[in-house]
Amino acid sequence: MSDSQLKPEGTLSLQTIAMPADTNWSGDVFGGWIVSQMDLAGAIHAERFTQGRCATIAINQMTFLVPVKVGDVISCYTKILKLGNTSIQMQIEVWDSHDSSRAAKRVTEGVFTFVAVDVKGNKRQISEEVKQKYLESQAV
Ligand SMILES: CC(C)(COP(=O)(O)OP(=O)(O)OC[C@H]1O[C@@H](n2cnc3c(N)ncnc32)[C@H](O)[C@@H]1OP(=O)(O)O)[C@@H](O)C(=O)NCCC(=O)NCCS
Repeated sequence: MSDSQLKPEGTLSLQTIAMPADTNWSGDVFGGWIVSQMDLAGAIHAERFTQGRCATIAINQMTFLVPVKVGDVISCYTKILKLGNTSIQMQIEVWDSHDSSRAAKRVTEGVFTFVAVDVKGNKRQISEEVKQKYLESQAV
């Protein structure tokens, strides 16, 4: 399937605009800036889902497919792949819509793992209620 036929997968968790301060000397946006937007998007989804604080424990896979330019609007889509006792593995895709006249394209994708933590930063169990909600969402 070509990229133009693909659609974003998951929940739109964050949208922002690439600014001049986020670029390198070639005018392309730093990979690290994109990773931090993905991390924020994943944390927003993980914290809403587990009803509490979460910390990033691992970034298992990252692919930068296309460069992002200043002024591009990026949208981060997050999808839970696996729910453990304390961890959430999440697929995060970044789509770029330069302007409304062109179709959005997928620019980056990665798999992040977050751990549910308490106020002291110690890991906490994900509740049975949250696990049940996840199982029900998978059954649809
Ligand atoms: C998050 C933290 C409290 C977890 O404590 P811990 O004792 O290391 O936790 P564990 O080794 O028991 O792992 C917790 C969960 O993460 C999973 N995990 C651990 N390492 C992993 C890795 N490299 N990749 C994917 N999952 C991982 C475990 O499988 C476990 O999942 P489960 O409970 O669902 O089965 C601790 O590692 C920490 O504070 N890390 C720093 C987090 C941080 O500051 N992040 C911001 C980046 S600077």
